[in-house]
Amino acid sequence: MCGIIGYAGKENAAPHLLHGIQRLEYRGYDSVGMATLNNQKLTVLKDVGTVSEVDKKLHFTTLPGTLGIAHTRWATHGGVTKTNAHPHLSCDKKIAIVHNGIIENYKELTEKLNGHLFISETDSEVIAHYFEEKLKSKTMKEACIAFMKDIDGTFAILVIKHDENNMYALRRDSPLVLGVSQEHVIASDLYTFSDKTKKAVFFENDEFAIISKEKYQFYDRTGKEVKKKVHEFIWEQEESKQQQYEHFMMKEIMEQPAVVKRLLLSLKTDQKDNFEKLLKLIKESHKIVFVASGTSYHATLLGAYYLHQCEIEAQTLIASEFEHFASIEEDTLVIALSQSGETMDVIDALKYAKSKKAKIVAVVNVPYSTVQRMSDLSINILAGQEVCVAATKSFVNQVTLLLSIAQHFGFDVSLDELPEKIISVFKRAPLIEKIAKELAPTRDIYVLGRGLSYPVAREIALKIKEISYIHAEGMMGGELKHGTIALIEEGTPVISLVCNHDQAMLSNVKEVEARGAKAIIIGTEIGDIVVPTNHDGTFGILATVVGQLLTYYIAKEKGLPIDKPRNLAKSVTVR
Ligand code: AGP
Repeated sequence: MCGIIGYAGKENAAPHLLHGIQRLEYRGYDSVGMATLNNQKLTVLKDVGTVSEVDKKLHFTTLPGTLGIAHTRWATHGGVTKTNAHPHLSCDKKIAIVHNGIIENYKELTEKLNGHLFISETDSEVIAHYFEEKLKSKTMKEACIAFMKDIDGTFAILVIKHDENNMYALRRDSPLVLGVSQEHVIASDLYTFSDKTKKAVFFENDEFAIISKEKYQFYDRTGKEVKKKVHEFIWEQEESKQQQYEHFMMKEIMEQPAVVKRLLLSLKTDQKDNFEKLLKLIKESHKIVFVASGTSYHATLLGAYYLHQCEIEAQTLIASEFEHFASIEEDTLVIALSQSGETMDVIDALKYAKSKKAKIVAVVNVPYSTVQRMSDLSINILAGQEVCVAATKSFVNQVTLLLSIAQHFGFDVSLDELPEKIISVFKRAPLIEKIAKELAPTRDIYVLGRGLSYPVAREIALKIKEISYIHAEGMMGGELKHGTIALIEEGTPVISLVCNHDQAMLSNVKEVEARGAKAIIIGTEIGDIVVPTNHDGTFGILATVVGQLLTYYIAKEKGLPIDKPRNLAKSVTVR
C-alpha cells in the first residue's frame, strides 16, 4: 500500500515529486523518499516520517535534476526504518528504484545475486540489485523483459539510472498510470496529477514503458511495442483542502449531505443509463454476490438486507475469503464495492469471478481505478476525494446507492430528505461530543445491532478501532448471550442501535445493564442520541453518522492523529 511517482520534464523534478507524493500520502505514511538525476549522478533523500516531517528535515526541493522518482511507504516487509525506506539503490549507486507491491520470490532472487550487498530488510531492494546484475549483459529493455519472466508477485516499479534520461516503469497488479502533458508524470493513481493534466495512459498487467521528457513507449512482456489509448478523464476537482476543518475526517463527514444529493441527482441524469442497466442485471441474474472489504463490506451487508426486503436474495462475501466461499457461475452477477477501486483482495476476487465468466459490476469512488476497469458496468458513488483513511462519506454514498436500487424494487424509502436528516444529526454534535469524552478512557466498547442495524454496529465498531484505538466489537444483539456477555463488567460501555422500539434490542440493553454495563442507546424515538427517522432504511445511515462523530470526538479527546491512524493506509493494495 505505497504510493509511487516519477517525473520527466523540462523543470526541476523535485517540486513536482513533492507535490505528487503529498497527494499520494493517503496510501501510506511510514516513510518517504526521493531520488533525482543530475549530470549523471543520482541523489537520494529519504527518512522515516510523514512527507511534511521528512521534508522539513531534508528539504526535498534542494534535489537537482529534471528526472526523478519518489515513494511514500506503508511497511510490508521490514520495519519502519530509514534503511527500509525507498528509493533503494544498487551496490554501485547507479540505479534507483521505487516499488509498490510485494516481490513474493525475493528470497530466491536474493540468493541468486551473490556478491551483492543487501542493506535493507525489504523485498523491494532486490529489484535494484536485479537490474544491476542484468545490465552486465543486457540492455535495460532486455532486463525489463527478463524481469517480467523472473518475478513472482505484484509490482508497480519505477527505475532510473545514472547514465540515462529515461524512467523505466513496470506494472503487474499494483496500479500505475501515466499523466500526459508537456511533461510526463507517472504515479499510483490519477489524483496525483489530476491538477496538472486530464490526459492519462493506463498500464495493463505485464506492460512496461520507457519514458523521457520528450516521449514514451509502452511494451508488452515480450518487448513488443504496444499502442496505448490516451484517456481524457473528468475529475471532480473536489479541492482536498481541509478548509475550515481541523481534520479531513470532519470535513468529509460534513460533506455527506452534499455528496448524497450529488449522487441522487446523478442516478437520474448522467449515470441514469448505467443505473438502469444495473437494475436490469439484478432483475435478470440468477444469483447476486456482493464482494468488498472493510467498511465497503458493511455497506454490502446493508445492500443484501435491503434487497432481501424486496425478496431479491443476494449473498455478500468479504473479498479476502471470496474464493473459499463463492460459488460463481456464468449467470452470477458479482457486484464489487470499493471506495479506492484498488483493494487487492477485491481485485483478486474479481479475477476469480471473471475466470468463471460472471458479470462484474463495480461501485467505486475513484474513477478509472483498477476495479472499475475490470468491470462490465460501473457506477461512481461521487463522494469526491476521501483523504481521511477512515471511510465516512464514501460509505454513506455506497449505502445511498444500494437504497436507491432497493427503492426501485419496491423498498419503501424516501431518499430526497436524507441530506436534511443528516444535517439534523449534525445538530446533535454537542451531545455526541459529551458522550465521546466519557468513552475516551475506556478499553473495550461493544456495539449491538439487529437486522439492518447489525452492519451499522460493525461499521461503528470499525471506526472506533481505526480512529480511537479502542478495542470495539460490532455484533448481532442476538449473539450476545451466546458468549460475549461474559465480557460485560461494571461500567463496560455497550452502544445499542434501537430502530423503532425493537423489543429484542431493548431486551439486550436490559441484559447488559443488569450486569453493570454503561448502556448507550442510539435510537429512532428513544435513546441517549435520537436520530430523526422512523424508517429502517435511513436509520442505518443516520446511526452511522452518529458513530462517525462519536469516533471523531473520542479520538480528538485522546489527541490522536485522526486522518492518518497508525499502521493503516487508505487503500490496501497488497494481499
Ligand atoms: C474503512 O474506514 C477502512 N479505511 C477500510 O476498512 C476500507 O473500507 C477497506 O480497506 C476497503 O477499502 P475500499 O473501499 O477502498 O476497497
